[in-house]
Amino acid sequence: PEQPPILAIESSCDDTAAAVWAGGRLASSVVASQRVHEGWGGVVPELASRAHQRLIVPTVKTALEEAGVPLAEVGAIAVTYGPGLAGSLLVGLSTAKGLALGLGIPLIGVNHLEGHVYSVFVDEPHPAFPFLCLTVSGGHTLLTLVREGFVHEELGRTRDDAAGEAFDKVARLLGLGYPGGPHIDRLAASGDATQFALPSPRITNHKSRSVADFSFSGLKTAVRYTVADAPEAAGMAPDAWLEANRADVAAAFQHAASEALVGALSDAVRQTGVQDVAIVGGVSANSGLRAAAQEASGAEGWTLHMPAMRFSVDNAAMIAVTAAFKWAAGETDDLSLGAEPSLKL
Ligand code: KG4
Ligand code: ZN
Repeated sequence: PEQPPILAIESSCDDTAAAVWAGGRLASSVVASQRVHEGWGGVVPELASRAHQRLIVPTVKTALEEAGVPLAEVGAIAVTYGPGLAGSLLVGLSTAKGLALGLGIPLIGVNHLEGHVYSVFVDEPHPAFPFLCLTVSGGHTLLTLVREGFVHEELGRTRDDAAGEAFDKVARLLGLGYPGGPHIDRLAASGDATQFALPSPRITNHKSRSVADFSFSGLKTAVRYTVADAPEAAGMAPDAWLEANRADVAAAFQHAASEALVGALSDAVRQTGVQDVAIVGGVSANSGLRAAAQEASGAEGWTLHMPAMRFSVDNAAMIAVTAAFKWAAGETDDLSLGAEPSLKL
C-alpha cells in the first residue's frame, strides 16, 4: 500500500523549514531563512527561537498549499529532534507534537545529520547501499560508510572545527558577511589559488583504522597569519592589502579545503571498494568542492551523488525523505520525544 503524505518540519538552527513527501516523491519544500542574524556575525540562539516561533505556522501552511495536500490527508508528522540549538529544536518539536496529537497520527523523529545523509534520496538517481558519505556542514565534518537500515560506520572526522565553520571563520577574517561559505565561494571564482600556499587540513594516520581525519583549525590559523603578516611584508596598509588580495586568499583556502575533502573520498573508495559516493551538508553547495569531486569521480571511475544546491543547505525535504524510510521500516516515536541538542549520527 502507498504511504500517506508525510509533513516534515526542520528548525534545528536558523532556517525554518517544512516539506511534504507524497506518493514517493517530494511534493513541496519551503525554507524561510531568518535574516535576523546577519548583523551579528553568527546565529543568536534567542533570536533564532523567536523567529522560528513567528515563521513556523506560515511555513507549514505554505508547504501544504504548495503540495496541494490538505492537513487532513497527512499521515505522519516528521521532525528534527537534534542536533541543534535547544530553543530552536523545541519550536519545531512542539509544533510537530501538536499536529500529531491533534490529527491522531504518528510522529517520526529525525536526526538532522541523518537527514543530510539522506538528502541524496530527494531526487533521482539514488546511491545504492552501502555508499560512502561525506557530511560537511556548519557543525560537522564526517566521513561515513552508510549501510541499509540507518547504520553509519565512521571512517573519519574533523578533530576540531567543522569545514563550514572554517569557511565562516575565514570569511570573517576577510571581512565578509555571515554565513561565510557563499561569500568565499563567490570571491574564489575570481581569485588565483596559487598565490598563497596554505596547509592541507587533512591528517592521514596510517596506523589508525580511520581513512581520513581533518583539522580545519590549522588551515584557518594559517589564513589568520597570512592576513596579519603579509601586508607589512608587502609594505601595504592592511585594508589596502586585503582589498587587493581577498579573492586570492579565498581561492587558496577553498582549494586547500576541497582538495583535502576530495582526497579523503578517493582514498576511502580505494580502501573500501565502494563506488557510490555522496557529499552532503551546507558545504556541498560549494562550487570548488563540487568541481573537484566531479573531476576525481570522472578520473577514478566512481559515482558521485550530490543533492541539488537547495537540498545541500538546511531544508525539510531531507527530513521528509528520511522519515519516509523510517516509517517504511516501522520506526515511529511517541509524544515523549525530546530535543537532543548534541545528538550524534
Ligand atoms: O548544513 P548547513 O546549512 O547547516 C548545518 O547543519 O550546519 O550548513 C551551513 C554551513 C555554513 O557554515 C555555511 O557557510 C556553509 O554551510 N555553506 C557553504 C556554502 N553554502 C553554505 N560553504 C561553502 N560554500 C558554499 N557555497
Ligand atoms: Zn544542516
